[in-house]
Amino acid sequence: TREDMARGPCNAPRWASLLVLVVVGTAVAAAINPGVVVRISQKGLDYATQQGTAALQKELERIKIPDYSGSFKIKLLGKGHYSFYSMDIREFQLPSAQIRMVPNVGLKFSISNANIKISGKWKARKSFLKTSGEFDLSIGGMSISADLMLGSNLTSGKPTVTCASCSSHISSVHVHISNSKVGWLIQLFHKKIESALRNKLNSQVCQKVTSSVSSELQPYFQTLPVMTKIDAVAGIDYGLVAPPTITAETLDAQMKGEFYRLNHHNPPPFAPPVMEFPAVHDHMVYLGLSDYFFNTAGLVYQEAGVLKMTLTDDMIPKESRFRLTTKFFGSFLPEVAKMFPNMKMQIHISASVPPQLSVQPTGLTFFPALDIQAFAVLANSSLASLFLIGMSTHGSLEVSARSDRLVGELNVDRLLLELKHSTIGPFPVELLQDIMNYIVPTLVLPRVNERLQKGFPLPMPARVQFYNMVLQPHQNFLLFGADVVYK
Ligand SMILES: *[C@@H]1O[C@H](CO)[C@@H](O)[C@H](O)[C@H]1NC(C)=O
Ligand SMILES: *[C@@H]1O[C@H](CO)[C@@H](O)[C@H](O)[C@H]1NC(C)=O
Repeated sequence: TREDMARGPCNAPRWASLLVLVVVGTAVAAAINPGVVVRISQKGLDYATQQGTAALQKELERIKIPDYSGSFKIKLLGKGHYSFYSMDIREFQLPSAQIRMVPNVGLKFSISNANIKISGKWKARKSFLKTSGEFDLSIGGMSISADLMLGSNLTSGKPTVTCASCSSHISSVHVHISNSKVGWLIQLFHKKIESALRNKLNSQVCQKVTSSVSSELQPYFQTLPVMTKIDAVAGIDYGLVAPPTITAETLDAQMKGEFYRLNHHNPPPFAPPVMEFPAVHDHMVYLGLSDYFFNTAGLVYQEAGVLKMTLTDDMIPKESRFRLTTKFFGSFLPEVAKMFPNMKMQIHISASVPPQLSVQPTGLTFFPALDIQAFAVLANSSLASLFLIGMSTHGSLEVSARSDRLVGELNVDRLLLELKHSTIGPFPVELLQDIMNYIVPTLVLPRVNERLQKGFPLPMPARVQFYNMVLQPHQNFLLFGADVVYK
């Protein structure tokens, strides 16, 4: 009846899918865009499989095979006692391993045609007769399959991996026994030992796979530097904001990707943008670095008050006609020389607001706004303020990666000046254009670029290095592609 159907168990799946929809709906609504995304392609997984398989092979070769002994009763031969012992795995070949992505689920690790070569000894006793010898065993066509689940620990921000299921299957066992007249022995082996050995190997292989995931792979994931202190002022938070997401072709780790000030971890007053990755997968890994990532750097360093610099006359090459003296400034601002005759000057430069970076397909544009304060240095070394100007410009930032670090080089366009305050009376700010056009590229940029060339660490686990790197600017983010080598 209708009532039965409404109450029947066949309604359960509908409830389940509703529940899933609600959960997914909430997750989407609450999701924060990542500031950095690490994408691993199938090519990257293939490389990881190679490395992982080599390590797994060593683990599998350590499997211990128990001794088997018991009594037999064979036609023509009669009753007796046997034992197979000292069995060692000489070789565990894993020829065709692969890891595939299972969309929305995880990763599937599979091996087909694995081969095991075992050598051992046997002995048999029938009343007073004793015989013994050695034998070789080859186990072929073994297949292994394991499901790996990826997640994230939201406390530590690190990725997690577990082996959710594992199965293995052996298709054939061949025994070769060195003594030629031992047909009965081979028969005995197949009858008494083969199935126990198969079971033993199948369960041991899966135990080794599971324990390798939890004792090798999971700890390796923990080497991903999540909160990296980079200098006395700042660190970078590369913590995962969600469990990794998996499609048929990509594995994405979404990271917070923001700079934070040591001891002042406040969320920035702006949010990460959406990053739309192009569908290219010819490198092993891709990193999407959003303009949010760069702008949190600008914010943190500006708020910490470290984006500043003091320029003095002795920084200027002797042969230059430009000088930081009241005499030189007097040549275009006569009041300076009149009020402060024959004195050295100092120029203090600081970022008045956090520098903004915008990433567009055409490149990276940087908008620093600087305060430039000029002083005369009095005889008793105290400073007398002369004037304050604001300077803005369009800078272009060239970013590249050097091994595991992101490095940059800043260039600036035309400098726009504005007089903000003067103690020597008003003057047309254009009079300062020449000296600023000299100071910024010769004194300021080299110091900024020295820091940028030291670079900032990229999110990489231990012993991994990038090569074949490419960098492409996209709307709101910089896409960095690379192949990796595990050392
Ligand atoms: C998550 O990370 C924290 C901090 O490192 C750790 O104490 C905790 O045991 C982890 N939780 C799980 C489920 O691994
Ligand atoms: C330095 O000299 C100036 C002018 O002679 C004076 O106004 C100022 O107070 C002096 N500063 C100190 C710290 O002695």
